[in-house]
Amino acid sequence: MDLLSGKKGLVVGVANERSYAWHIAGALIEHGATCAFTHMPGEKHERRARRAIGELGVSDPWLKPLDAGSDDQMDAVFSAYAESFDRMDFLIHSIAYAEREWLVPGKFVEIPRQAFLNAIDISAYSLVGMARRAKPIMSRTGGSILSMSYYGSQKVVLGYNVMGVAKACLECTTRYLASELGEYGIRVNTISGGYLRTLSAAAVGGAEGIGDANHHRAPLRRNVEGGEVGRTAVYLVSDLSSGVTGGNIFVDCGANTIGI
Ligand SMILES: NC(=O)c1ccc[n+]([C@@H]2O[C@H](COP(=O)([O-])OP(=O)(O)OC[C@H]3O[C@@H](n4cnc5c(N)ncnc54)[C@H](O)[C@@H]3O)[C@@H](O)[C@H]2O)c1
Repeated sequence: MDLLSGKKGLVVGVANERSYAWHIAGALIEHGATCAFTHMPGEKHERRARRAIGELGVSDPWLKPLDAGSDDQMDAVFSAYAESFDRMDFLIHSIAYAEREWLVPGKFVEIPRQAFLNAIDISAYSLVGMARRAKPIMSRTGGSILSMSYYGSQKVVLGYNVMGVAKACLECTTRYLASELGEYGIRVNTISGGYLRTLSAAAVGGAEGIGDANHHRAPLRRNVEGGEVGRTAVYLVSDLSSGVTGGNIFVDCGANTIGI
């Protein structure tokens, strides 16, 4: 299958082989894409990311450190990418952060200013910072920018707290970016993924309960698999979705459609 043959891009957010970014990269590679990667700075993070990427069959990856809270590191990564590659067809933003102390039911009202702002900075503003730096190289060929959201952006999910606010910001940011970057042939979308057992999911107080509830409540009676989000990413990166931008696609076994 070569839906993405010849396409190249950057994947941000592989922590290990459970990460949504890992599943997305695996699906993109399976369909012929070439992926470059970043990892959180630090030897331990690099080792884990390298090992996970190795499991995708990429033995000598393009892999650079990136803390999304640092403008200097963002500059360095996008400059280095442009020196190594002649095109950027896709940018996968699959990162989020909030101090887990505030991801507990009943603690939303207690969150301090700086913790709130940090969550928005890393989880949403970083998409703007990356899109701005991607624009010069991506506009050569046109491209697709994709980030990961969650239903807690639209309805209250107990314990999701500031992360829900950050995801609402991310989804709105997606629409504004799409409207400004469309004239350069750049599309911007989010996937709203279902519960997947990852490091980030474990930081949300009560997230296990969400996973358990999906077996009863979600129309498909199960949690989503990483590969299902990966294949939706293939669609959004490929020319199959050439008319789709500013959107949000739920890939959650239908869980978002169920009310009481
Ligand atoms: N797991 C779920 O249930 C679920 C559901 C919907 C959406 N999501 C979203 O999917 C995305 C990926 O999360 P995941 O579940 O794969 O967990 P994960 O822990 O595997 O990935 C989160 C990534 O964010 C990175 N990150 C955190 N702070 C960073 C910073 N300052 N700079 C750069 N990178 C940073 C981590 O290094 C890690 O690679 C997130 O946006 C998350 O909110 C997850």
